[in-house]
Amino acid sequence: MYLRYSLLRSARAVQRCHPHSRLAHTSTTTKHTPPTTPCKQYLEPTHTAALTSLSQESKSVIDASAKYMLPVYARPGFVLSHGKGSYVWDMEGRKYLDFSAGIAVNALGHSDEGVAKILGEQASKLLHTSNVYHHPGATKLAELIVELTRKEGGLGLDATAGAKIFFSNSGTEANEGALKIARKVGKDRGGPSKSRILCFENAFHGRSMGALSVTSNPKYQQPFMPLLPGVDVARINEMAALELITNETCAVIVEPIQGEGGINYAQEEWLKAIRKRCDETGAVLIFDEIQCGLFRTGKLWAHSALDSECHPDIVTMAKPLANGYPIGAVLMRDAIAETMTAGTHGTTFGGSPLACAVGYHVLSRLSAPEFAQQLQESSDYLQARLARLTEWFPSLLEEQIRGRGMILGLGFKDTSIPAKVVNLARERGLFVLTAGSDAVRIVPSLNIGKEEIDQAVDVLESVLEIVTAESVA
Ligand SMILES: Cc1ncc(COP(=O)(O)O)c(C=O)c1O
Repeated sequence: MYLRYSLLRSARAVQRCHPHSRLAHTSTTTKHTPPTTPCKQYLEPTHTAALTSLSQESKSVIDASAKYMLPVYARPGFVLSHGKGSYVWDMEGRKYLDFSAGIAVNALGHSDEGVAKILGEQASKLLHTSNVYHHPGATKLAELIVELTRKEGGLGLDATAGAKIFFSNSGTEANEGALKIARKVGKDRGGPSKSRILCFENAFHGRSMGALSVTSNPKYQQPFMPLLPGVDVARINEMAALELITNETCAVIVEPIQGEGGINYAQEEWLKAIRKRCDETGAVLIFDEIQCGLFRTGKLWAHSALDSECHPDIVTMAKPLANGYPIGAVLMRDAIAETMTAGTHGTTFGGSPLACAVGYHVLSRLSAPEFAQQLQESSDYLQARLARLTEWFPSLLEEQIRGRGMILGLGFKDTSIPAKVVNLARERGLFVLTAGSDAVRIVPSLNIGKEEIDQAVDVLESVLEIVTAESVA
């Protein structure tokens, strides 16, 4: 099938990819000579099921999955066995470079030794208590999140303002909690009719009934109608949204950078206008930073980079907080938190000693200045290499790379291409994700180095060569 490429796979082409790898081992200040042509080293698939017949062990996992597990995921035909750093291996021993990081979760990569150590130590000390009792881990992590937010800029916190945390087990539950809190604030401020919620097209907030009701995507919503009443839907960056924020609105929920929806930015001026309208009407502004927060953009919050005039009342977070151990959280200004009293909300598992110990460890490392510096350098390097793709493949790609930090997207002109790119990349040992209908999402671990970046972009270059050749054939 890829015969036509065999001629292209000359020694020269292979050599052209190698200098990237050599550079990976040099200091980050080393001057990089950018490649002048796309890499063609990965034109042939290396990781398809057809190449290596599956072991009995893998087959029995896949068969058992079909027999016993709800078929809500369309998984590829291999079974993951273990991981280290940015790499994972399947049960056949094939190695994959994971630029999906468990959907923007494994900020410190797979099998991190520090995380494993904390997990072991805390599990053998105090794993779960329920929220009936105090334990030091939750307050320690809550203090770290609030004080980092004050220091790095977020939630409009100044030196004197306070904030409170509620811990959940997932992003969906964090959003569910945020919506409930906003509903209660709405009732306090405007009575029972102040209950409407404004959300946005292409947003993703989760799959529970409340979170799903504000995830305006027919594919997810249609089978489960009726959902929450009183939800309005607008488009990000369109001023018409302001008209939907009325005295009956209790909450506006928005991702500062839409992740699942396509790596789309909410513009600062638009967010300021939304903030102002929320203040005029007494609506609570919720930023869902479950995917874009916690240093994925290079800063604590995606909104840390923005003027405090557009900061929210509530921020929700989850994914990387404990590097893959389940945890989520709702962070809110004191003025919002005061409506919540004992018994108004709760969870059995949320904020367990184990989840919080891991969260504290992970967040302490992510917030170290040298980590941010390294992340910035890697992000600059990755973006520079991705920018070449837009020059080399103008018929396929938009001119600009979407996103910032380590939440990046390649926007495609033809919506049939992103899923194809994800599959072709996986068949060459690289995990990336789609985003929305028209983008490939690149959300690797935050501690990746140049070597991984070079390998990933080399694979993408080869894949785009294939797609280009197919589209002109
Ligand atoms: C922005 C955003 N909000 C909410 C969620 C739901 O989080 P979880 O899957 O942890 O429930 C996700 C998950 O992808 C997300 O990206």
